[in-house]
Amino acid sequence: MGNPKKYLVTSALPYANGPLHLGHIAGAYLPADIFVRYLRIKKDDVVFVCGSDEHGAAITIKAKKEGTTPQKVVDEFHELNKLTFEKFGISFDYYDRTSAEHHHKKAQDFFTDLNNKGVFEKQEREQFYDEENKQFLADRYITGTCPKCDYDAAYGDQCEKCGSSLSPTELVNPKSTLSGNAPILKKTSHWYLPMQDHEAWLREWIESGTLDGEQLHNPKDWKNHVIGQCKSWVDGGLQSRAMTRDLDWGVKVPLTDAEGKVLYVWLDAPIGYISATNKWAELNGFDGEAMWKDKDRELVHFIGKDNIVFHCIIFPILLKLHGEYNLPKNVPANEFLNLEGDKLSTSRNWAVWLHEYMEDFPDKEDELRYVLTSILPEVKDSEFTWKDYQARINNELVAILGNFVNRALVLTHKYFEGKVPAAGADNKFVSEQIQKAYKSIDDNIKNYTFRQALIEAMNVARMGNKFLADTEPWKLIKSDVEKTGEILNTSLQIVAHLAKVIEAFLPSTSAKIFDFVGLDSKTFDISVYEALKGGSEIKKPSLLFAKIEDEQVEKQMEKLKDNKKETSAPMIEKEVVVKPNMSFDDFTRLDLKLATIKSANKIKKADRLLHLKIDVAGEFKDVVSGIAEYYTPENVIGRTVLYLANLEPRKIRGVLSQGMILMAENNKGELSFMLPEKPFESGAEVR
Ligand code: MF3
Ligand code: ZN
Repeated sequence: MGNPKKYLVTSALPYANGPLHLGHIAGAYLPADIFVRYLRIKKDDVVFVCGSDEHGAAITIKAKKEGTTPQKVVDEFHELNKLTFEKFGISFDYYDRTSAEHHHKKAQDFFTDLNNKGVFEKQEREQFYDEENKQFLADRYITGTCPKCDYDAAYGDQCEKCGSSLSPTELVNPKSTLSGNAPILKKTSHWYLPMQDHEAWLREWIESGTLDGEQLHNPKDWKNHVIGQCKSWVDGGLQSRAMTRDLDWGVKVPLTDAEGKVLYVWLDAPIGYISATNKWAELNGFDGEAMWKDKDRELVHFIGKDNIVFHCIIFPILLKLHGEYNLPKNVPANEFLNLEGDKLSTSRNWAVWLHEYMEDFPDKEDELRYVLTSILPEVKDSEFTWKDYQARINNELVAILGNFVNRALVLTHKYFEGKVPAAGADNKFVSEQIQKAYKSIDDNIKNYTFRQALIEAMNVARMGNKFLADTEPWKLIKSDVEKTGEILNTSLQIVAHLAKVIEAFLPSTSAKIFDFVGLDSKTFDISVYEALKGGSEIKKPSLLFAKIEDEQVEKQMEKLKDNKKETSAPMIEKEVVVKPNMSFDDFTRLDLKLATIKSANKIKKADRLLHLKIDVAGEFKDVVSGIAEYYTPENVIGRTVLYLANLEPRKIRGVLSQGMILMAENNKGELSFMLPEKPFESGAEVR
């Protein structure tokens, strides 16, 4: 083994606005974990950080929808996701959160440093604004049709369908996510990053891996689709992008002339990688900043393809402007994982949620790790299905891996009282195959081709099964005990090495096998074929994997279908936005009553309005109501309706309107009265 190599590995900070689903895991977490576990096994020096992304519109919009606060949302999902990662065996050295004070400070210092260097341009520009909600609309607050691919639910900063990076004004038919209304334009000041100034070095860095004449990486090591996306952005021309936002949730802009402004979430979140490293370093007696600046330490970002622009263009610009910090050595982004023939979708609840999986299949994290690794969307989109999950477990984990380990150990107990029999002379072939497996697993993991690496590891189990089938020790035992012992010795050496080759992929299964054969994975030497000495004792094995039954699969399919929400295509559904909570006291201030419409008259030159006279427990009131498009006067006279009595009186078209008739409105703008379920006296209280 050469000198340990140094790595700093990151996984995209997941938004703490919901639980994790299999798409997240297959994109940025499982591949990173395999990579990191493998490097640790090789005794390389690696730090693996992640954390919750707790700012940005993803969080504030969720809070608004649920009628709660952003803080409550992030507290809930930070805890849940952190725990779920742990249960699933994702082995972060540190799982941070961007709401942490130390991160706010780091992000502010970073911003201040760049600002002092004069890299931002403060500009007043017109931005979309929602008049109803009195809020500027950036990022996820504005949706519209993507100008590049026509997707009708693109966000103000990005189209998640084609990955384009956008600015709100590029959207066709922009609409506010809050109100569904078309926005107006209003002036506001922000700090802009002139990305266009960086095109030349970015192009060179992406295409040839060089920067200022120094070879930083070999572009052949990068995935084609990553380089392809980067090139097309740079070729399409970069634009200056605001690094601040008008919001009250996030990292405050550390300047006196920036009241009510926070850092853009895509500035703050990647800095979270640095904050997390620093926090981990502080807790473990290292220097995190030095790690980010150490030219011999390779920075690798694991992400999903929708994050490429941020990790390959925007963050590198910021890192370079800051100076000293390393640029990523590689950004092995994955494509998307689909589910049962359809795109994964949080809003349609078309997803397998990891925390639910861990509840339904306790202690079966290795099974899921195996299936997901087998189908990782490494170079193109791939698909998870429950049938395939079942097939891979039953036909591969149970029938190949589990079966081989079990047979070798059970036969050893049956014929040799659980002691490793003496080795024979000729095991060259087997030992060569094992070394070949180590080599190709190494090549594949370094190449980020984890699917193939897992196949190579499983081939060791396949070889073991074939070896037993060819040599038939259960027959040979009748005629030649010594030769049978040699066969089982070989089989047990394969078992021991099998534990090692699967370690990064299936950590708990590996630990179980090491325990069966009484070895310590930490001191295991892969170069020594004879891992088990003759005479050493092995334990009676328990079954490593159980078959997945049809009923289990059917249950999961039903769960998926039951939970699926049929959202009609358009993204903005007014009624899903719930206003912030009010107190019960606030509610009791509303004076709601039943009232009966006694007369109705059209109002001249006002097509939408009717002048109603209503009876409220014998008292008459005038109300002007905007219902004339849907109701003629004849249609409304005599109806008992819901009346808000204590709305401040207002003069409308010369009539003093005393209160308001409450109507339901659907997203087509159609109206309906709120009628009592049975004839009821006017004046009855509604509460
Ligand atoms: N929260 C983002 C997402 O889920 C990813 C943030 S990655 C970081 O798409 F680099 F910003 F940290
Ligand atoms: Zn698009």
